Amino acid sequence: MSDAYIFFKEGKPGYAPILMLHGTGGSEEDLVNIADFLSPNSPKLGIRGRLIENGRTRYFNHTEDGGFDLDSLDSETDWLLETIKETFAEHHLDPTQAIVVGYSNGANIAAYSWLNGKDTPFRTAILFHPMLLTDATITRSLDDIKVWDSYGANDQIVSPQSFFALNSSLKVAGAQVTSFQHQSAHKITDEELTSAKKWINQINLNI
Ligand code: MLT
Repeated sequence: MSDAYIFFKEGKPGYAPILMLHGTGGSEEDLVNIADFLSPNSPKLGIRGRLIENGRTRYFNHTEDGGFDLDSLDSETDWLLETIKETFAEHHLDPTQAIVVGYSNGANIAAYSWLNGKDTPFRTAILFHPMLLTDATITRSLDDIKVWDSYGANDQIVSPQSFFALNSSLKVAGAQVTSFQHQSAHKITDEELTSAKKWINQINLNI
């Protein structure tokens, strides 16, 4: 895709690829150290959100009144999924085996794609500090989906209501959800990373 900024790092053959989706203001390379910690041998692929709001990269826009722009969210999710399929094919990787490692804005668009009827190839995700962007419109069972997600009790961006509504939407649709909470804010802590790594090793993926 000509308009996508992509990061790719080779892995060892047979290891599940990690798909990195950054937070607001981030880039395609942002999460590589975290991904290396979680699964050192996996190929790593990052895709930058193509929108810029107030000078910061994002996967979808806000409306003028500060809400989420649901049209932008819908069309940018389609763009991201298409870019994932094309980029994985270019690197001879299977997107259905991918483990998403997403933070904040990147985690949100991954969860949205599952909850809103998109043809989403990936089935496993580590979502750091996600939230529910809009009501789910479930069109298929998510019983093949495994999610680990995290929440900070002092997060100024993600409310407890939004985090727990996201988890409940995923669970109602059949996804297996494992959550981790800390007392910190909207940031990724060492204890959170250790928990995510433990989970990824437990779910028996090839990592
Ligand atoms: C979003 O816009 O996805 C959330 O508010 C989180 C963030 O600010 O990135």
